[in-house]
Amino acid sequence: MPEETHSILSLPPSARRSPLVSKNHVLIVDDEDLYRRALERILKRQGHTISCACNGPDALEFLNGHSVDLVLCDIKMPGMNGLDVVKRIHEIRPDLPCIVITGFGSSERSLEALGAGAFWYLEKPFEQERLDVVRRLVDQAIEHGQLKSENRRLKSELHSRHKFDRIIGKSEGLSKMLSLIEKVADTESTVLITGESGTGKELVAQALHYNSRRADKPLVTVNCGAIPEELLESELFGHIKGAFTGAHQSREGRFSRADGGTIFLDEIGDMSPNLQVKLLRVLQERSFEPVGSSKTRRIDVRIVAATHQNLPGLIEEKLFREDLYYRLNVVPIEVPALRNRGGDVALLVHHFLGIVGQGRDAKNTTISGEAMARLSTYHWPGNVRELENLMERLAILCGADGIQLSDLPDSLSSGPKPLTPTRELPAEGLSLNRAVEELEKSLISQALIRTKWNKNRAAQLLDVNRTTLIEKIKKRELTPPD
Ligand SMILES: Nc1ncnc2c1ncn2[C@@H]1O[C@H](COP(=O)(O)OP(=O)(O)OP(=O)(O)O)[C@@H](O)[C@H]1O
Ligand SMILES: [Mg+2]
Repeated sequence: MPEETHSILSLPPSARRSPLVSKNHVLIVDDEDLYRRALERILKRQGHTISCACNGPDALEFLNGHSVDLVLCDIKMPGMNGLDVVKRIHEIRPDLPCIVITGFGSSERSLEALGAGAFWYLEKPFEQERLDVVRRLVDQAIEHGQLKSENRRLKSELHSRHKFDRIIGKSEGLSKMLSLIEKVADTESTVLITGESGTGKELVAQALHYNSRRADKPLVTVNCGAIPEELLESELFGHIKGAFTGAHQSREGRFSRADGGTIFLDEIGDMSPNLQVKLLRVLQERSFEPVGSSKTRRIDVRIVAATHQNLPGLIEEKLFREDLYYRLNVVPIEVPALRNRGGDVALLVHHFLGIVGQGRDAKNTTISGEAMARLSTYHWPGNVRELENLMERLAILCGADGIQLSDLPDSLSSGPKPLTPTRELPAEGLSLNRAVEELEKSLISQALIRTKWNKNRAAQLLDVNRTTLIEKIKKRELTPPD
């Protein structure tokens, strides 16, 4: 039995099927007929309605027109792989739980799957004695999705003013940040929020707006990275009828909708150079023209922008305008990474377990000291979002004695993995220089691929300075893909 399934197997026998989970619609995505059919049989017997897709694009198209409660997705498929499918699904349905199916013994991939937002992972093959595990995991994932969307509904119903109490943490870094927010919230200054992905930049933007005199007016968020470039201009500034093919009616843009309030330009580092020029003008003059119109519109908005990217690095690479950067960076707020926030991990763990508890008979899940110690020393590359997702899953998957060390995913080691050679020293020996060269080349290539050849970020990942990295890239003649 693979290690990774222990936490699932260790569920108490009393872990009954949730009353929330009855007959549900499950989508199975796998290019291999055999496994698809096997899963279909198993889950049909459980009473679920099953739909199948042979690849990612078909699955995404299916989700467009159908309501689905759970997706089971194979990780290895030609074209779009399972991790990309999960990420794309969460862009359109953030609450839809996905279980990723991995090959036997591939714990690295399992961790990647969790990082990509999967609820959990299942290893092939589905032997008879593991069917119960499969069924229970499916039920738990469905319940998780239902609780999540219920939670979202309640949150939006509350429509509460976001005072600072939504930002949990008492560490020095976070306290400094909170006092800066407090000082700057009720001013008209443009704010640039930076910080790694998942650190809470959106929460900061909300705190700024809801603690300003604009709080009763709209806070309009635009994710500049998620909207295709050709649509973003009309999305931001609106368009008039006939401005382009398909513009049957004129439409108001998000700047107009934010009039009187705040516009939050998220992922600003992804904005195209063409739009950067237009945004610069809005920042300077607080006016713009809708696409296709020559009539200038004046607006009164406060601008808050955020990015997880290193803008000075993008400026150096001529991908971001320096003049726009200075206009945005009037008040910089840097959200600290979770690994640098000391005791905040424990506070956040209890906070998230408390939230999950509210949806489940008001019973809080406990956590053992050992498990908490492991969480406190983990390096949290996905920051608070990663912690939040993990707590939601663990609260469902753990046994009656709360979260134990053995419930944590195996690969949750306490820090960036030390590099241990994966190869044994061959009996005949090896060339140490060549082996080191190969390892270095492989790690540099991985960092460049992961950062889409953003050398600043790749250098950060590898903890070397940019010039050293550039020299190494040249020496090894690494070139970006076409
Ligand atoms: N200090 C905090 N207290 C409570 N919840 C937090 C805190 N920071 C972040 N979160 C939660 O973590 C999740 C991620 O936060 P958020 O979306 O604001 O991150 P982000 O920095 O905008 O990430 P990205 O760069 O990926 O967009 C959210 O669900 C948010 O509510
Ligand atoms: Mg964000």
